[in-house]
Amino acid sequence: FANGPLSGKTVVVTSGPTHEPIDPVRYIANRSSGAQGTAIAEALAKLGADVTFITGPADHPMPQGVRLVRIETAAEMHAAVTEALPADAAIFAAAVADWRVASASDSKIKKDGSGQLPVLEFAENPDILQDISHLREGRPQLVVGFAAETDDVIANATAKLKKKGCDWIVANDVSPETGIMGGSENAVTLITADGAEPWARASKTDVAAKLAQRIADALT
Ligand code: C5P
Repeated sequence: FANGPLSGKTVVVTSGPTHEPIDPVRYIANRSSGAQGTAIAEALAKLGADVTFITGPADHPMPQGVRLVRIETAAEMHAAVTEALPADAAIFAAAVADWRVASASDSKIKKDGSGQLPVLEFAENPDILQDISHLREGRPQLVVGFAAETDDVIANATAKLKKKGCDWIVANDVSPETGIMGGSENAVTLITADGAEPWARASKTDVAAKLAQRIADALT
C-alpha cells in the first residue's frame, strides 16, 4: 500500500483493554475487545500509513501490516506511546484503566481463613490521551480520542474534547442494549471543533475505513 494517501505518514494507534495487576495471578480489566482499534489500524495501513499498534491483552486477531507493540498496564501503554513518537497522528482507541492497584502484591494474596477480606487501594493512571494532546514539543498534528459513554453521549464527549485537548473525539454509546461493546457494529458521532457529526450505524470495519479516510483528508 505504498502509494496510498497516507504513505509517508506515521500513525500511532492504541487499542484494547489494559490489565492492572492485583498480585501475580490476578488483575483488573474491562470489556474492551480491541475490535474497533484493530480495524482502524488496518484501515490506516491500507491507506499507506506507517502504523504502530500499541495494544493491551485482547483476544481479537491482531491487525495486518502494522508494527505491533504488546503491553499490559496503562503505565506501559503510556511509555510505549511516548517511545513511538514523533508521529503525524495518534488515535487513542484503547480502553485504558483509570485506576491501578496502588501497591500490587509481589506474591499471591492468600485466603488465610481468618475471615479478613483484602482491601484494595487505588492510584490514578496517567491519562495518555490528555498528556499527548498537551505536549508542547512533538505533539502529533492530529490527536483523536474516543469517548465510550452510556448517558448524554454528545454532551459528555464534547466536554471530553475540551478537557483532553485533542482534535477529534469519536463518541459512542456503549449502553449494554446497543450490543456495541464486544459486538461487530458501531454507531459513532465524530466530534470536532466544527460540531458533532453522527455517522450511521455500520460494521466496525466500515467505521474504521471512514475514519481512516477522514484522517487522510486532514493530514494531506
Ligand atoms: O476519560 P475517558 O477514559 O472516557 O477518555 C477516553 C479516551 O481517553 C480514549 O481515547 C482513551 O483511549 C483515552 N485514555 C487514555 N488514558 C487514560 C484514560 C483514557 O489515553 N488513562
